[in-house]
Amino acid sequence: MTPPFENFTGIVEPGSLEARLLARLDPHKLPRHVAIIMDGNGRWARQRGLPRVKGHSAGIKAVRATVETSVRLDIPVLTLYAFSVENWKRPMSEVNTLMELLKEYLRKELPEIQENDIRFHAIGRIHELPRSVRRELRHVEQESRFNRGMKMVLALNYSGRAELVDAFNSLLLQGRTRRVSETEVQRSLYTGDLPDPDLLVRTSGEMRISNFLLWQIAYSEIYVTDVLWPDFRSHHLLESILAYQKRERRYGGIRSRSLQGAR
Ligand code: IPE
Ligand code: IPE
Ligand code: MG
Repeated sequence: MTPPFENFTGIVEPGSLEARLLARLDPHKLPRHVAIIMDGNGRWARQRGLPRVKGHSAGIKAVRATVETSVRLDIPVLTLYAFSVENWKRPMSEVNTLMELLKEYLRKELPEIQENDIRFHAIGRIHELPRSVRRELRHVEQESRFNRGMKMVLALNYSGRAELVDAFNSLLLQGRTRRVSETEVQRSLYTGDLPDPDLLVRTSGEMRISNFLLWQIAYSEIYVTDVLWPDFRSHHLLESILAYQKRERRYGGIRSRSLQGAR
């Protein structure tokens, strides 16, 4: 393995699909922020004649694989869309199971988060989530607050429009009487301290944004795969990054610019 990806040494079998993908990746053109719309849990379960919630529990393996691979690649920020404001429309039993799975994930994953130096943060209208969920979220955020590795952002009870409304209201409440700038709006978002996603991945083939990071994805490269979220593994993430590295980012200009840090 070449030195930039030495974190995979002993983990990835030489000659395996992952090893071959890693060999093709440019370590100098990695995205600084990868955002993922984790979709297709219900379809995965339906294909197997299982209840939808079985798809959600199976999706946890995909989360683990994605987090682990992103850490090994040294991706600075990973944002995962786990529950949208609109997802409350689902049957109460499904919503309750999702909340229980989330708490279980947070409890089980804390040691891994600490071991991997991950800084965990939840975004969205967190105050509207059940108290027991908030307690687990705050605990993991508190415990991981001094970690210096990858920032893992979980979007929960999240809506891009709600985020913009919250940003404008926070600016209004500061007693602003003059016009606001783009920078001020950007800083008032839940993601105010993060770079915009370079790469936005959506699983399960749906060609839509579903109210995710509306402001932040203005110039993100979008990658949609037909793979259903519970089937998503390390090599799928590597494939998405490889596709990203082949894109020419122009930001409205005409000349090709470097992928890394081009703004
Ligand atoms: C994504 O899978 C998980 C959440 C939205 C919480 P879905 O539950 O949306 O699965 P599909 O889209 O119905 O297959
Ligand atoms: C997007 O998936 C939300 C999350 C992944 C949390 P949905 O399944 O809710 O989106 P739609 O309904 O297909 O647009
Ligand atoms: Mg869906």
